[in-house]
Amino acid sequence: MTETALAAAKKEKKSGQMIKFSINGKAVEVEAGQNILRGAEKAGIYIPTLCYHPDLEAFGGCRLCIVEVKGMRGYPTACTTPAAEGMEVKTDTDRLRQLRRSILEMILTEHPHVCLICSERNNCKQAHECTRRAGITTACGFCPKNGQCGIQAVAERLELKDVTLPFSYKNLPIDRSTPFFDRDDNLCILCGRCVRACKKGVIKFMQRGSQAIVDTAPGTSHVEAECEFCGACVDHCPTGSLVERKRRWDGKIETQAKTICPFCSVGCELTAGVSAGGGSASGGKQGRVIETLTNENGCLLGRFCATLLNDSSRRITAPMMRRSGKLVVVPWEDAIAHAAKAIKKSKGKTALVYSASCTNEDMFALRQFASKVLETAMISCPGSSTQKPVWRRT
Ligand code: SF4
Ligand code: SF4
Ligand code: SF4
Ligand code: FES
Repeated sequence: MTETALAAAKKEKKSGQMIKFSINGKAVEVEAGQNILRGAEKAGIYIPTLCYHPDLEAFGGCRLCIVEVKGMRGYPTACTTPAAEGMEVKTDTDRLRQLRRSILEMILTEHPHVCLICSERNNCKQAHECTRRAGITTACGFCPKNGQCGIQAVAERLELKDVTLPFSYKNLPIDRSTPFFDRDDNLCILCGRCVRACKKGVIKFMQRGSQAIVDTAPGTSHVEAECEFCGACVDHCPTGSLVERKRRWDGKIETQAKTICPFCSVGCELTAGVSAGGGSASGGKQGRVIETLTNENGCLLGRFCATLLNDSSRRITAPMMRRSGKLVVVPWEDAIAHAAKAIKKSKGKTALVYSASCTNEDMFALRQFASKVLETAMISCPGSSTQKPVWRRT
């Protein structure tokens, strides 16, 4: 495969047309226009990546996904090179392994990496503390992504044992200016995933060379830059640089479940992440919802706010009754018996007020309850706390 033929392959993007080529001698087929990496994924062949994400346009920044292509000079990146008919690709030669390790080492000259090479790291996991007392800024336990990190996954596959190049800690302050997430530039590898994930163009690469960081325009806060707080930048960051503040130390997600956002009656779908426990601050959090992700068409309110609502100390989670002027938690049986007695006494003289956040199903059930149990026609939904209730006849 010559480079001229490859250039022709880049133009050849007829949809549905299939391209046949080989990776490590294995026959692979992808749609015209798809890259070598896609072919490797389909064939179950591992190629390390950091700046690539399947949701985002390829960027070719980290160069970890370099491969060898017969007839091509140098080492093209699998994420940006489209597959071409008859191409012969190698992904796992000694030279590639050596080059990828050198590339990773270079990335790590400005990235704390105790968590990747420390001989005690597995013992520390069990002890839940750094047994070698590594510095507070570099010990793996002090990174919220420890155990769920893109760099750790790549370093393990590349069997990185040591970093021979000198390390320089950037020592930049953590940006806590947004309401929901923190940005630690000391852990940023400038992979640009967050920049590409932000559809609003709120964050960009700023400054150059060793000073380069990802940030909003100078002097502009996220709110001023019209950040929607959709969380896409946080969700696509492979390192501990962009992390949701509330779940920073809650550890790994064990399971995910589909649920409904509790904020309004539209009822957008949310994916709730349930804690596996084991985070440094997880305490009794095992089995609790520590993250909520919105889907592409859902409203964004639930992304960061649903867990705040779920864990709010003001949330009523048990029945309460007023006793001697004070609200006290009581068993369900007592609360139900009391309510039943009160309803019986006031049948036909009761009004029912429901929240504007109720779903259609909730409202249907409440209407049934109002007409059949309370025997009242007075049912209301206040539009907002400042509006007077709008009464409707059932
Ligand atoms: S981002 Fe990953 S590699 Fe870097 S310190 Fe955190 S866990 Fe370790
Ligand atoms: S939260 Fe969403 S809109 Fe705001 S910077 Fe991140 S990706 Fe962009
Ligand atoms: S903040 Fe994260 S996603 Fe953005 S460039 Fe840095 S490491 Fe990559
Ligand atoms: S993953 Fe291909 S260059 Fe980074």
